[in-house]
This record gives sequence, structure tokens and C-alpha cells, in this order.
Amino acid sequence: MEQIWVDKYRPKKFSDIVGQEYFVKRIKSFLESKNLPHLLFAGSPGTGKTTTALVIARELYGENSLKGNFFELNASDDRGIDVIRNQIKEFAKLKSLADVPYKIICLDEADSLTKEAQQALRRTMERFSSSCRFILACNEMSKIIDPIQSRCVIFKFKPLKEQSLRLLIDKIEKEEKLKIKEDAKEFLIKSSQGDLRRLVNTLQAASSIKKEVDMEIINEIMDYVDPTEVGDMIKYAQAGEFFKARDVMIKLRVVKGLTGLEILKEIYKRVLEMDIDPKTKVKFVDRIATVEFRLVEGSDEELQLEALLAMMALLN
Ligand SMILES: Nc1ncnc2c1ncn2[C@@H]1O[C@H](COP(=O)(O)OP(=O)(O)OP(=O)(O)O)[C@@H](O)[C@H]1O
Ligand SMILES: [Mg+2]
Repeated sequence: MEQIWVDKYRPKKFSDIVGQEYFVKRIKSFLESKNLPHLLFAGSPGTGKTTTALVIARELYGENSLKGNFFELNASDDRGIDVIRNQIKEFAKLKSLADVPYKIICLDEADSLTKEAQQALRRTMERFSSSCRFILACNEMSKIIDPIQSRCVIFKFKPLKEQSLRLLIDKIEKEEKLKIKEDAKEFLIKSSQGDLRRLVNTLQAASSIKKEVDMEIINEIMDYVDPTEVGDMIKYAQAGEFFKARDVMIKLRVVKGLTGLEILKEIYKRVLEMDIDPKTKVKFVDRIATVEFRLVEGSDEELQLEALLAMMALLN
């Protein structure tokens, strides 16, 4: 299976970002004046919050110095605020490697932080305000405490309009050499509800069946995503058909938008019900537990699930 399109088509520069023209304009003028405030990006999923934060960092530091100057934390990872604070401190202490006097700390899904954690974050923001700029991203702004809101310039990201969605469909159609029927385009636009991630994922799933995308194929993939498919995935793996199993896994992630942990839970349930040699079952469960631990720790989902499927294939 090829690269996941949401990564492939994640904008690298401002001009790749569709819609959100007003935000892009304002952010560009901040960057021109070399005076970037703390930013709070709030709003709907798949509208470009994380993407915009990354573009800002690329623009400021360039691809090569990105690493030492841009630090990304996902607040919804099951990590305590102490860990977050310590990591921020460690990062802030190191000298900026570029000729920009500050580094950027991007805290994704900040609305999942508790109020206490947000208070701590607020103090951290104050403490490092001369050497760091914060970009916070969240879905629900009401869950962010006022003192943090008042320290940031706020951008509310709305679901993207039809025109912007169409722009991206047409771009992908061209680059991937697809032929998408007009009614399929209209369906993709409507069903995505302004969420570009969903749009790109559905399009990738459809086009993996056929390069001529019509409503028949769209209906097929919409039916295709059923958690019972996890059962098929395991069967393929056990039959040694690793690549088939992996295709199902990628479809579950890409189309249905299931997270690695959700898929893993489903695998676990299936494995428990399976009528197999108890020793093999124990080995499976043991490996599932290991993979779960790694996913919670933030390991690459695709890689971990693939490794699990490969192990299931080998044990038979
Ligand atoms: N404005 C945009 N222009 C072009 N592509 C976009 C845009 N917004 C989102 N995308 C596509 O959707 C994917 C997900 O976008 P992103 O991670 O920025 O969403 P988000 O707003 O941070 O969502 P969430 O609230 O779920 O974190 C990107 O990798 C890209 O493929
Ligand atoms: Mg995001």
C-alpha cells in the first residue's frame, strides 16, 4: 500500500493551504514583522490547525533547523502535565539554533488538559515567554481557561466551504491521475462536512479500488468499513496472507478513521473468541499487550499493527 494521502497532501507552505485565506494573511503579517504572538487555533477537525502550525515553523526555521526549534506535544496522549512541563522546560532551555530569537512549542489537543494542567501551562507560558512561542490547538475553545485565551491571538477554524473542498479534490484528481465523476465529487463534498482529513481519506480508499471513481465505488467503500472486518483481517493474517491483512488494516484506519488502539481492542476481542491452540492464543494476547503499550507511548500505529499481523502470520 502506498503512502497515506493525508500525510502526502499535508500542506508544506502557506500557498498549499486551501481556504482559511484570512488566517494565512494575518499569520504571514505576524511573521513579516518578526513578531509572532502566542496562537490559539480552535475549531472543527480536519480544517488545518495542526497543518498551519507546522507551516509556520517551516517558514520560520526552514526544513533543516526545524527539529531543534519546533517541539510538538500532543496533550491528549496519556501523559501527565508534569511530563509535559518537564519536556517543555528541557526544550526551552536549549539555545535556539536558527536566527529567530524564539522557538515554537505546539501543544495539540490542548482542550484535553485538565484545568490544573492548564494553570501549570499558563505559568510555563509566562516563564518562557521570551524564548518560546506557544501554538495551542483544540477543538473546543470553551474548554480552555480564560487566562490562556487572553494570552493568545485566537483563530477559529470553521469547516471548509464547498469551493475549498473542491479545490483539493481537483488537485488530488490531477496528481493521482484519477477520474472522479461529478456526482461522486458532490457526494465527497457533502459527506466530508468540511473536514479535509475525512475527504482525503475517503478519496484514497475509493481510488485504491479503481482510478475511475464513481458512486458505485463510493458506496462500496462505505459498506466496506465494518468492524467485523477485523475478523477477516485476522483470518488473512493466520492464513499467511499478510498483504491482504495489511490492506484491511489500512482501510480500517484510513476510511473508517479507527485509531490504532480501537483496532487493537477489536483484535483482542476476536482473539479471545478464537478457537485455536491455547499456547498460540497466549502468545497473541501477550503481543497485543506489548503493542498496546507501544501505541500508548506514541509509537507509529501502522508499523506496530503491521508487526502484529506479521507475527500472527508467522505463528501459523
Ligand atoms: N486547509 C487545508 N488545506 C489543505 N489540506 C488540509 C487543510 N486542512 C486539513 N487538510 C488535510 O487534512 C489533514 C489533517 O489536517 P490537520 O491535521 O491540520 O487538521 P486539524 O485541524 O489539526 O484537525 P484536528 O482537530 O482533528 O486535529 C492534513 O494532513 C491535510 O491533508
Ligand atoms: Mg490537529
